[in-house]
Formats: sequence, structure tokens, C-alpha cells
Amino acid sequence: MTKPAQEQGKSVFIRTYGCQMNVYDSERMAGLLKPLGYGVADAPEDADLVILNTCHIREKAAEKVYSELGRLKQIKTAKKTAGEELTIAVAGCVAQAEGPEIKARAPQVDITVGPQAYHRLPELLAKAARKDGAVLETDFAVEEKFDRLADRKADGPTAFVTIQEGCDKFCTFCVVPYTRGAEVSRSVDQITDEVRLLAGQGVKEITLLGQNVNAWRHAPPAGDAGDDWGLGELCRHLAKIDGIERLRFTTSHPRDMDDGLIAALGEEEKLMPYLHLPVQAGSDQILKTMNRGHTAEDYLRQIERIRAARPDIAISGDFIVGFPGETDEDFQATLDLVTEVEYASAFSFKYSRRPGTPGSVMQKQVPEALKDERLSLLQALLDVQRRSFNDAQRGRTLPVLFEKTGRHEGQLVGRSPYLQSVHVTAPKSMLGSIAPVKIKGVTPNALAGELDKRREAAA
Ligand code: 5AD
Ligand code: SF4
Repeated sequence: MTKPAQEQGKSVFIRTYGCQMNVYDSERMAGLLKPLGYGVADAPEDADLVILNTCHIREKAAEKVYSELGRLKQIKTAKKTAGEELTIAVAGCVAQAEGPEIKARAPQVDITVGPQAYHRLPELLAKAARKDGAVLETDFAVEEKFDRLADRKADGPTAFVTIQEGCDKFCTFCVVPYTRGAEVSRSVDQITDEVRLLAGQGVKEITLLGQNVNAWRHAPPAGDAGDDWGLGELCRHLAKIDGIERLRFTTSHPRDMDDGLIAALGEEEKLMPYLHLPVQAGSDQILKTMNRGHTAEDYLRQIERIRAARPDIAISGDFIVGFPGETDEDFQATLDLVTEVEYASAFSFKYSRRPGTPGSVMQKQVPEALKDERLSLLQALLDVQRRSFNDAQRGRTLPVLFEKTGRHEGQLVGRSPYLQSVHVTAPKSMLGSIAPVKIKGVTPNALAGELDKRREAAA
């Protein structure tokens, strides 16, 4: 038997901040380092290499990285005293946006690598080991990145697959077009191969990822004539892969919800009835200064069409309060839109000024105290909606995909079609399977249920 990598000497600790794209990237980085003999460490103290996979979306997220780097500096110094080494790498969107600043503020960092360049980690590590000075790699070469990524190993019955990266929309509050670059779609064949590989390892549910996932568009696979495919066609294609039971995709832009995708949501049963469709604000004036490219009415009409195609769909959203120029009336328009849509879940944020974005230099910035006030009003409303959506599941029988063991003995935790966590007393042998569960209890963040007895007896 081969020895575990730790015993061969090297291990890596990866801390992930931000969105699901970063979760995917971190997993791929671990996969890339494995052939180099790196096992996974549970804490930075036990590692030879620490990677911070960072997020730049709001100021708070970016600042967290610098405080973590302060802690890592102490560990690095302590290790040095003990005759050991610690290599520190900053990956992700802070690396992309603030490469030179990281170098100046945190000289303990050995490698700075952007989200489109991390496939070069092995070379960068070798370079850092030669001690040529700090290494900075922030090229945009997305195609090359995916070509060079190592095979994937599944970790449980659900998996993320990035199908699209970057953004051409340039909302005036957002750093993504600058950190992740222009919109790029992976090919049908490349995505299909990755999904097949995962299905072969027992994965039942795939979440397709992209900053603008529904802007995904690509020529059909080789041998297929015809126009470019959109996300709807891709989903129908992936649904045919043996073993795949559930498909999700995130994050969608209202402008890219085309007829093909809406039809697929209505017709393809493996597409789960859950859609994350951020609107950010409910006032047309604010949507305009945000450069969203749609009005509140456009968004509501899209929701109507989606619900007509898939009546049980759960809608989730993102909101920003306190964008420059937001008046009380503008904010009320956001509350009105939320009331009209009835969200199953949502994320809401105070506007954060990001250097280099048009919003950061706009007149009429909103005072922090007012942002706080608006955020708590909005969150109170969204909270009521989430609870009432969860409450409505009581008494229903939902198919649940069991993902992991729960905190209590004999308990498993799974997901409903609507992405709710469901706690159930069930044997471990059911991990990775989908079974009907009768919902009996509802807490603010999860559901509790019992296995459908008849089905259990039949199993
Ligand atoms: N300030 C606050 N929230 C932001 N988001 C993006 N940029 C900012 C910003 N500057 C939010 C948006 C987006 C989500 C991922 O983060 O709501 O949909
Ligand atoms: Fe950012 Fe807007 Fe692009 Fe979404 S659509 S990533 S919010 S610029």
C-alpha cells in the first residue's frame, strides 16, 4: 500500500472565502497538488503550504485576508525558528486585484496567483522554492486552465462543475468583470467528460457554476450540426448521463433567462425547481445607475414566465441596499418588489465601495447608519418569506438526497429539491441515495422529517 501523502512529508491547508466558484477552484487546486505529494492538512500549523483562496466582492471579505495573513506570518516565523518552512500563497480574486499591494503589505507571501492562473501552481511552487523572490501570476488564460486541470475525485454525492467564468455586464458596483475577466464558456465535450467522470464515482447531483451561468453558450459537440447551444440545451444533454439525478445551476442573470432555458426548467425533471436570480434593487432609477440593463418590471415579467413554466419553482435572490443615490422611495421599491416576488431565500448586503468600480466614485454615497437601517428592514422581510416558504413544506413528502451524517447519532442530512437542509433518522447505507421524506418539523434554517415508511419497507 502506498503511504498517505502526509507521511511522505508535504501537506497543504487551503482556506476558501467567497462564492461557490472558489469552492470549486480550491478543490481543483488540492487535486493539482496531490500528484506532487501534498496531502491535506487540517490546520495551517500542520501544513508546509497554506493557500488562501480569496474573495474581493466586498471590502470586508478582502480585509479578512490581510488579518489572516498576519496570523500566518506568526506561524511562518515560529516554524522557521524550529527549522521548518511554510510557503504562503494567496489565490483568487484579491490576488488578481491587489497583487502588488499584497507584495507591499504582506512580504511573508511567497506566491500570488489569480483565479485564471492557478493551474500553474506546480511551476510557481518550484519557482518559489528557488527563492527568486515573491512570485506573481495573474494572467487570464481560462481555456488553458481547464485544459491543464488534473482529473477530479468526487467527494460525496453532490459536486460543482464550473461551465462559465467571467462577466461582461459591468454592473457599476461589482469587481467581478475586473477580477475574473470576460465571459468564457467551456465546451460541451469538456463539461460532459467532467460530469461523466463524477457520475462514475457516484455523484447524483451536479451544480453548474458560472458568474453568469445562463450566459453560457457554445458550439454543439463535434458531429452535431446546428446553432450554438444555450444552457437549456446543455442541461437536457447532461440529464441523459447515467447516474445523474439532479441538476442545478447558479448564478443566473435576469437578462440571460432565455426561452430555451425556461422551457428546459419546465420540461426537464432532473432540473431542480430552484432558481437563484439576483435583481439587486427594485427601483428603476437605481437599476439604471447600477447598469443592470433591465427594469423592475422586466424582472417581474421574467419571474412570471418562469413560474408559468415551473409553478413550484423556489426563487432566491441577491440584494444591495444603500447604493449611491438610493432614496427612501427607491428602497421602498425594493421592499415592494420583494413582497411581490416572495423569495424562498436570499442574500442581502450593504453596498460596499470597491476601488476601480464606477459606483465607488459616484456622488450621493449613502451613510453607513442608513444602510444598516435599510438592511435590517429588508432582512426582516426576507426572513418572514423564508420561514413561510419552509413552513409550507410541513406535511409534504419531498425527495431528499442524503449527503452526510448529522450531528446526532443515527441522523443523516440531505437536501430537498428546493435546496433546504433536511434532517432525518436514517441508516448510513442511505448516504448518496434519494428517498421520499415526510416533512414533520421546520426550523428557520432546516427541515426535519421521517423516511416514508412504505418506501423504506420496499427498499
Ligand atoms: N457591495 C455589496 N454587495 C455586492 N455584491 C457585489 N458587489 C457588491 C458590492 N460592491 C453582491 C451582489 C452580488 C453578490 C454576489 O454580491 O448582490 O449578486
Ligand atoms: Fe458582477 Fe453584475 Fe457581472 Fe453579476 S452581472 S458578476 S453583479 S458585474
